[in-house]
Amino acid sequence: MIHNTQHQALATQELPVQGTVEYWDAYYAHSCSAPDQPSDFAQFIAGLLGAVPMRIVDIACGNGRDSIFFASKGHYVLGLDQSEAALELARAAAARHGLTNVDFAHFVVGCNRHLPTPNVGNVPLVLYARFFFHAIPEPVEDDFLNLIANLDGDQIYVAAEFRTINDPRMTYGEPISAHERLEGGSHYRRYIAPEHLIRKLETTGLRIIHHVEGFGLSAVKGDDPHLCRIVAVRG
Ligand SMILES: C[S@@+](CC[C@H](N)C(=O)[O-])C[C@H]1O[C@@H](n2cnc3c(N)ncnc32)[C@H](O)[C@@H]1O
Repeated sequence: MIHNTQHQALATQELPVQGTVEYWDAYYAHSCSAPDQPSDFAQFIAGLLGAVPMRIVDIACGNGRDSIFFASKGHYVLGLDQSEAALELARAAAARHGLTNVDFAHFVVGCNRHLPTPNVGNVPLVLYARFFFHAIPEPVEDDFLNLIANLDGDQIYVAAEFRTINDPRMTYGEPISAHERLEGGSHYRRYIAPEHLIRKLETTGLRIIHHVEGFGLSAVKGDDPHLCRIVAVRG
């Protein structure tokens, strides 16, 4: 169902993303705390997309909870993540739900030159990225924007939700730089200045069609982060 990644061999030790995979493998392998219900953001995006099936690439899908939700709505979904432990959970959940329109693949943004997509013809493509941008260093973000710029296809949407520099959590943990922190010694976060990312998305050829920021967008277990939601379109 997917175009396989041809460039896994491009992975290099120097890329900063390599530092976070151990954290996420341990999180998904040993923690029962990863939510398995669809996120509020996924429900919001599903409402925007409507009933016509689209191709959705769930970038950094984690345990696949949002991928599975989109597939249950009839979309063709490919969930990608760097964490094999997360993908194991995602594949097991898809099997439990008996879904055949969702697939999962190992993919490290920053180490690949081609973004795989669901192989179902030329229906609009949605690149869905929840809690991804703040999980990666800026050079990896730039690689992701290059992947988008290199995609063929008439209509491409990008839907992203991420923590901003107004998130109180930015004061937690050890500072790495003005906007980067390491919590508990291994949980990396980079708090995003939305207008900076928006400028870069626009430079990539995307037009912003939805942009909100604030609290209350994804409050769970006593954590009410300051988030930004962006939907952008090319074509
Ligand atoms: C906060 S979790 C979000 C999971 C899911 N999107 C959700 O909202 O439940 C961040 C995810 O990003 C993944 N990730 C971080 N850097 C990545 C990269 N460079 N390439 C692929 N996945 C990455 C991690 O493995 C982890 O599953």
